[in-house]
Amino acid sequence: MCDDNRFAARPVCVFDSGTGGLNLLAACAERCPGTDFIYFADNYNMPYGSLPPEKVKELVFDAFARIARRNPLAAVVACNTATALCINDLREKYDFPVIGIQPAIKPAVSIGGKCLVLATPATVASRSFTELCRQYGDGAVEAVACPGLAAYIEEHIAEYPDFDVSQFLPACNPASVVLGCTHYVFAEKAISKIYSCPAFDGISGTADHLRTLLGIKAKNRLKKQKIEFKNGDFEKNSKIYSLIIDYKNKNKNVNF
Ligand code: DGL
Repeated sequence: MCDDNRFAARPVCVFDSGTGGLNLLAACAERCPGTDFIYFADNYNMPYGSLPPEKVKELVFDAFARIARRNPLAAVVACNTATALCINDLREKYDFPVIGIQPAIKPAVSIGGKCLVLATPATVASRSFTELCRQYGDGAVEAVACPGLAAYIEEHIAEYPDFDVSQFLPACNPASVVLGCTHYVFAEKAISKIYSCPAFDGISGTADHLRTLLGIKAKNRLKKQKIEFKNGDFEKNSKIYSLIIDYKNKNKNVNF
């Protein structure tokens, strides 16, 4: 829990390999009015999900060295792959709180039937993902790695929200599908339509967690919120963020 002076002076830093985490940034910014955010990305080195774990760790720790210099109130790992491979080491190294998004297996499994989890190759191969499935999967999870899907979405992001991603998806008849990579969240409409079932992601759960962590109870509309974009293709990230906000404003019933 943080007092109001620190809250006003220090930003929350949000990190993803590319544009995927912008979905989570939008949800965090919405739930934490008056909080400043800095979005750090690494668009030119993604997709992280197809890199060896040691390389992902190196890139994530490089990004966090820059994040730490901003003296953040908290950091949000808006990348399932980076959470799976690095969150424990990040928490050990830094004294600010670090929260991370994970595949939303628990709520998806709770509706019953087969649960298809789509994630990057690195996430699916990780020990923490195996543990998540063991803990919450109830024997109902089929996990499928989707090599190339995050990079495809990153490259075709201007088509949001109408992507043709069918070539990357397994033939399957699930009762629920988990979007276990923040890039896939952009294609939620298309993926949910292909499988004719509800899609789950960790966006709102992670954003709610941040709000609780910051101790935000009421809406602080007095202080204007500042959102900056750093590193990687920050101009593209800034543009896509505006696209998300426009889409959200036009579709008030969409849950971010
Ligand atoms: N957006 C990231 C995730 O949630 C991964 C994308 C990538 O492979 O770089 O896993």
